[in-house]
Amino acid sequence: MSGKPSAIIFGGLNTCSRALAALLVPLDGEPLVSSLRIVDKYSVAPPTTYLGAEFPKILQNTNVEYRQANLTIPSAVSSCFDPSEGQEPYSYVFDLTGEILWSRPEQVQIEKTFNIARLLGLEAAKRQVKAYVRLQHPFYECKEKGKHDEKEDVKPDETLGIWWHETLRVLAAIPDLNLVIVRSAMVYGPYVDYGVVMGFIAVAAVYGYIKQPMKALWSPGKHPNHTVHVEDVAGSMWACAEWMSKTGRKEADSIAGEEILFKNDKNKAKVVEGMVDPGQKCVAPLFNIEDDSNCSMADLGNIITSFFGTTFEFYNLVVNTVAKFKLEDTVEDINESHVGYWTEMITKSEPKVTNTHYSAYMDIYHLKKHIVAFNAQKIKEIVGYKLRRPHINDETLKETIDKLKAEGSWPVLDQAS
Ligand SMILES: *[C@@H]1O[C@H](CO)[C@@H](O)[C@H](O)[C@H]1NC(C)=O
Repeated sequence: MSGKPSAIIFGGLNTCSRALAALLVPLDGEPLVSSLRIVDKYSVAPPTTYLGAEFPKILQNTNVEYRQANLTIPSAVSSCFDPSEGQEPYSYVFDLTGEILWSRPEQVQIEKTFNIARLLGLEAAKRQVKAYVRLQHPFYECKEKGKHDEKEDVKPDETLGIWWHETLRVLAAIPDLNLVIVRSAMVYGPYVDYGVVMGFIAVAAVYGYIKQPMKALWSPGKHPNHTVHVEDVAGSMWACAEWMSKTGRKEADSIAGEEILFKNDKNKAKVVEGMVDPGQKCVAPLFNIEDDSNCSMADLGNIITSFFGTTFEFYNLVVNTVAKFKLEDTVEDINESHVGYWTEMITKSEPKVTNTHYSAYMDIYHLKKHIVAFNAQKIKEIVGYKLRRPHINDETLKETIDKLKAEGSWPVLDQAS
C-alpha cells in the first residue's frame, strides 16, 4: 500500500476534470493518488467530446481508469464506487457533474445537475468517503461592490444558476457527507473550452487578426470579471480534499461553514424528489477560488486584446442602450462577422487546424453582463492554499494559446503579414 489516497472524479470532462486528472496523475512526476477513476457520460475512445492533447496520455497510466456511465441511474452510481479487485475503497470524491449549458430546460437541470449530485452525495456518505469536493461554477450575479467573500448574498443566474445552487443545498443537507464546496471565478487555461473567458479570447484573436479594436457592450466595464486559471481550480479542489480528510465535516462546518440560502421557487419543493425544505437551514464548508488579478471587465478586455495586438473599447451609449434591450437581435449580427473571420483564420492557418472545436461564436449568455467576484482570502487562510497562477497576463495567455496551437485546435498565422 502506498498510503496515498485514491480518488474518483465524476463528470466535468467538458470543464475542469482533465486538469484535475493531470494534477493527480501528472505526465511527468509522482502521482498524488494511488489510483484514479474518472467517470463521465462521454466515450473517450473514440472521443465524443473535446479532450485536449494531454488527457488521452494520462488515461494510459495503469493507475488511471476511465468509465463511461449514465449517472442518472442509481445502480450505475453505486457501482462506480466499488473499488477494483484488490483495492481499498475510494477515499476522495471530486464531483464536477452538472449541466453547464444555460439554454437547457429546467427539467434537464433537475435531472442532470440536481439529481446526479444528490445520488453521488448520498452514495458517498454511505461509503464514508473522507472528502467530497463539489465544484460550483460562477453561475451567479455577484454584487458590483463589496468584500466578495463567501458571506456575500449572490444571486443565482438563470435557471441554470438556480439548480446549481439548489444542488449545494441538497449536498449540504446530507449530514455525514464530508462535503467541501469550491466556488470558482471565470475559468481559463490550456484545453479549457467552456465559459465566458475562452469565448472572449477567441473573439479578441479575431480583432487582433483584422487589426481593429474589439468593442464590447456594458460600458464603462468597471464591474468585476474575476478570473481563475484551471490549474488553480484543480489545485484548490485537491487542497480542500486533503484539508477535509484531516478535519471532518463537523469541525469543517464550524471553521468554514456558510449558510446556503434558499434561492428557488418554494413550490418546486413539493414536486422535485429529494429537494430540501425551503425553510431548512443548510450549512456547508464553502471556499471561493479566484486569482489575484482582481480584473474589472475593462481590465480583462485590455489584458486579452493587448495580447493579440489590439485594443479594447466600448460601443457608444446609444448602441449600448439598444443592445441591452435587444441582445437577441444583436447576437446574430455580432456573430456573423466574428465567425466569418475566425473561419478565414482557420483556413489560412499553417500548419492546418485539425480540431475546430474552438469558435468565436458567442451566445446570448456569453454576451450578457456578468458580474463575477469571489474573493479567495478564506481558502488561503484556512486551507493554506497558494495560487499557482496568481495573474492572468501575457504569460498565462501565451501558454494557453501555444498549447492549443501545438495540438492543432487554434489558428497559427504569420502576424507580420
Ligand atoms: C440515462 O438513463 C436515463 C434513465 O434511465 C435515460 O432516460 C437516459 O436516456 C439515459 N441516457 C443515455 C445517454 O443513455
